[in-house]
Amino acid sequence: MGLREQVAAELERTRRRSEVLTDAVDETDLVRQHSPLMSPLVWDLAHIGNQEELWLVRDVGGREPVRQDIDHLYDAFKHPRADRPQLPLLGPAEARSYVATVRDKVLDVLDRLPSSSVAAAPDASPAGARRLVQDGFAFGMIVQHEQQHDETMLATHQLRAGPPVLSADPPPAARVAVGGEVLVPAGGFDMGTSTEPWALDNERPTHRVELPAYWIDAAPVTNAQYAEFIRAGGYDDERWWTPAGRQHRVTAGLSAPLHWTRDGDGFTATTFGRTAPIVPDAPVVHVCFHEAQAYAAWAGRRLPTEAEWEKAARHDPASGRSRRYPWGDEDPTSRHANLGQRHLAPAPVGAYPDGASPLGVHQLIGDVWEWVDSGFLPYPGFSAFPYREYSEVFFGGDYRMLRGGSFGTDRAACRGTFRNWDHPIRRQIFSGFRTARSFPESA
Ligand code: AVJ
Ligand code: FE
Repeated sequence: MGLREQVAAELERTRRRSEVLTDAVDETDLVRQHSPLMSPLVWDLAHIGNQEELWLVRDVGGREPVRQDIDHLYDAFKHPRADRPQLPLLGPAEARSYVATVRDKVLDVLDRLPSSSVAAAPDASPAGARRLVQDGFAFGMIVQHEQQHDETMLATHQLRAGPPVLSADPPPAARVAVGGEVLVPAGGFDMGTSTEPWALDNERPTHRVELPAYWIDAAPVTNAQYAEFIRAGGYDDERWWTPAGRQHRVTAGLSAPLHWTRDGDGFTATTFGRTAPIVPDAPVVHVCFHEAQAYAAWAGRRLPTEAEWEKAARHDPASGRSRRYPWGDEDPTSRHANLGQRHLAPAPVGAYPDGASPLGVHQLIGDVWEWVDSGFLPYPGFSAFPYREYSEVFFGGDYRMLRGGSFGTDRAACRGTFRNWDHPIRRQIFSGFRTARSFPESA
């Protein structure tokens, strides 16, 4: 399959997912705000189309606007989420027809691009325009953007009250026993990428990072482990919380992960409208950074830094080079990781031995986003591309990084180098964590 066909297939595959998420509910439900943290689903849908129009119809295609009059409604910087339901948004039928019109034009733009421009880029076009379409980057950026909003829409579904409307096969069972920690030896590794064609600006460029040796959990922290922390009184013990974490815990009244309910001596969790006992050996999900940090302190450990997470995920000690994924350079398949909303829950620890890193670190990709103890900063040599509002305007803000993707993340929007960020108090996202410690312990 040529690049052009591959791009068209990715656009189509992605749209099918957006349709599943928006066709699952009725029109009242589409325009409703299920949580002040989230947009109405119909906003996400038209915003997906609007970004696609801006970049692919107008910018790459050089075509006339489809609906310039609605740009401001779908500009995420113009209206906070809480205000979006009050805007004169496109209704469900209009939004669906808008995204379909945009998509038809985009497929036509793609068809008419000279082969040389998608593959290598024509020398006649200005450098910026050339770079925008080279290796299908602009199309890849829009595929990833839609996939990111599909994950956001999945989080909206998770916050939605009422009977279940989404279904999927349960995740695979554990195939191997995984536990304890792995020693990552001291030394340099290549962080970030300069070669991954669809990597976004904040993942670039490749740069050498030296790290002392450290231990990292072989698997994400599980529900059973996290429940131990709760039972040990971890939420009420001042020792484990940072001042900011303590303050947030009190203000928000945190006592367990979001969607958990105490049930006698145990806990149930409500996921996508179904309530069931927590799965002991599955990664904990829906915790904020502060909860992750407090658990790690209680366990006598700490969260890994972003560099430590990426070295554990990509460094191959045999060759000294960084892999695209923990298992190697091949794109993720259902053998490697729990990605792509194939299952609507994290898989138990040990379910993906084929996805482990050379050092034996499991489930770094998929299952749950992992909080790491780093803020959002540019890599040395960063340059914003193609727009400052994707990453640059967030640098240095009140964010913590999340790595590795969740069961709700598509493979197109997840790589060993992919960087996600959110406020440290957020937990409606599919967030979990693993812990680490320095080696030797005194370091
Ligand atoms: C990278 C997930 C933080 O959803 O806010 C979507 C991605 N940027 N539309 C977000 C994004 C613009 C972004 N995150
Ligand atoms: Fe967006």
